[in-house]
Amino acid sequence: MLKAGIIGAGNISGIYLQNGRRFESMEITAIADLDRSRAEAKGLQYGIRALSVEDMLMDAEIDLIINLTIPKAHAAVNLQALEAGKHVYVEKPFAVSLEEGKEVLRVAEARGLYVGGAPDTFLGGGIQTCVKLILEGAIGTPVGATAFMMSGGHESWHPDPAFYYMKGGGPLFDMGPYYITVLIAMLGPIHRVTGAARISAPERTITSEPKAGEKIRVEVPTHVAGIMEFKAGPIATLLTSFDIPGGSVLPRMEVYGTGGSLLVPDPNDFGGKVMLRKSGESEWKEIELTHGYAENARGLGAAEMAAAIARGTAHRASGRLAYHVLETMHGFHASAEQGVHIVMHSDCDQPAALPAGLHPTFLHI
Ligand SMILES: NC(=O)c1ccc[n+]([C@@H]2O[C@H](COP(=O)([O-])OP(=O)(O)OC[C@H]3O[C@@H](n4cnc5c(N)ncnc54)[C@H](O)[C@@H]3O)[C@@H](O)[C@H]2O)c1
Repeated sequence: MLKAGIIGAGNISGIYLQNGRRFESMEITAIADLDRSRAEAKGLQYGIRALSVEDMLMDAEIDLIINLTIPKAHAAVNLQALEAGKHVYVEKPFAVSLEEGKEVLRVAEARGLYVGGAPDTFLGGGIQTCVKLILEGAIGTPVGATAFMMSGGHESWHPDPAFYYMKGGGPLFDMGPYYITVLIAMLGPIHRVTGAARISAPERTITSEPKAGEKIRVEVPTHVAGIMEFKAGPIATLLTSFDIPGGSVLPRMEVYGTGGSLLVPDPNDFGGKVMLRKSGESEWKEIELTHGYAENARGLGAAEMAAAIARGTAHRASGRLAYHVLETMHGFHASAEQGVHIVMHSDCDQPAALPAGLHPTFLHI
């Protein structure tokens, strides 16, 4: 069992700490944060050590750092962890700039260390059922997909939402990783992207406590339309927005094939409803999930990476996959700015499908 330490004791750390207890491939034994009081509070709550970031990086017991800091700190903390000889798994996005993302991959490879990245929802029962259906030919040959993340923004609920509007944030960098990762899990790597983007309001007002009334300056597009041409041929359309306060009734995601259509559950969740309609049929049929991990299993990607480290095999929520997603998102923005198609430089493997009927500890994959 690998010993892991979390850096970043904020909002999302609770579910990692909670789920950390159920995976037998890793044990979370310590937590650190720039804000020592946050680490101490979580340490007390979960009965683990609260350390300074420096002490965690020097701690001989810890082999794997789970980086749950804010996006603009992701690459710097990843590099610190790798330089200290630790494997690292980071929340999304993989990095803010392509250069820093590439540097993280380079250092990990040079040092023979594993690097992984969120999201890991594609390992959940909902998406794995869709992957299985597509691989089995349930919709024939995939032709295209649509994906919609329509929201009014995070300033109404998150206690400290400013980072969602800074470089590395925005609807695309915040939520796009779920959608693009799931599309890659279902359709493989991407060849070329095209995008259009806008900032609908240069300033937003926080309405959630404790910062209600404070203004946020918007640095990134808040409404982004993107097209992805996959290497295997399908074409997918992705719309991500923080500018839809009136809501939308569009599905989260659909995949279309020569033999049918698949309604894919929310890529931000692990479970959900899978619906299939074969060509010639008049009704959509609900497909029973074939895979486990259908409840909130955040941390699964890190746990699967820990199991892969122990075996010396490839892991699924990999740094290369997360970097390919990062390049896709930058490609949308670059295409919008330059008015051209952007051909991808990076590549990744379509993550291997999980076997069905896994024991929830991941020891036997
Ligand atoms: N909140 C969510 O629902 C959610 C869901 C999925 C993913 N995420 C991702 O998780 C990450 C964290 O989100 P959050 O909502 O927990 O943010 P948060 O602001 O609540 O917490 C981030 C924590 O990181 C600490 N931190 C920042 N820079 C640091 C550094 N250099 N070294 C050590 N600690 C540092 C901060 O002090 C803070 O406690 C983000 O990348 C976000 O995209 C969040």
